[in-house]
Amino acid sequence: MRLDILTLFPEVFAPLFASIPARAQTSGRVKVELHNLRDWGRGRHRQVDDVPFGGGPGMVIQAEPLAAAIRAVQALDPKPARVVYLTPQGTPLSQAMVEEMATRPRLLLLCGHYEGIDERIRETLVEQEVSIGDYVLSGGELPAMVLADALIRLVPGVIDSESVACESFSTGILDHPHYSRPAVFEGRSVPEVLLSGHHGRIEEWRREQALLNTARRRPDLLARVELNAAERRLVGGCQERGVPSEP
Ligand code: ADE
Repeated sequence: MRLDILTLFPEVFAPLFASIPARAQTSGRVKVELHNLRDWGRGRHRQVDDVPFGGGPGMVIQAEPLAAAIRAVQALDPKPARVVYLTPQGTPLSQAMVEEMATRPRLLLLCGHYEGIDERIRETLVEQEVSIGDYVLSGGELPAMVLADALIRLVPGVIDSESVACESFSTGILDHPHYSRPAVFEGRSVPEVLLSGHHGRIEEWRREQALLNTARRRPDLLARVELNAAERRLVGGCQERGVPSEP
């Protein structure tokens, strides 16, 4: 997968060159290319923004440098990139969306700033708009990093496919609790079943815990998953009794 990122602040993307995303790039499975929008700016100051027509606060990223930058970045590789604009007005990001996007060989992530980008670029060159939540950040850089990280870990071979399959949201529900050594920590023991070596019972316990965890913290997710009769009883009982939520 190739990710081109068009931004005014390429220096903030260091996290994409550490840990799992870094390994994904050294192994050749992923290529992340950063491009500074200012390279397509006007004049000595490489200006890319101007005041909004009609007045109002802030500045708008202008259509001309943006269009030139998008077209120049597209031309760097024969595979056409899907142009994705990170904006609080976009579709809220979900694991299902990340899974769909990860099937694309190339994406161009466009980071907005100030009051946003000229509407005509949204209409003509942007194919998808993504929000990472109902809050406003100072720019699209952190959202682009969130999206890039979520995409990179889905590229085959980047992480163990079994871990991806079991994670929260891939299964449609939240994850089960995890424990490691020591078996007793400050008087708190690991659940007996996990020490039993009985894989069938362990899997059953994990599924139950994942369902209870979801019923307690994100009951909205349960409406979207298929449960068998026993599982329905388990979460139904939990909802009727009102399992106490975490502190
Ligand atoms: N830019 C600023 N805030 C954002 C958000 N919540 N999601 C995506 N892009 C943004």
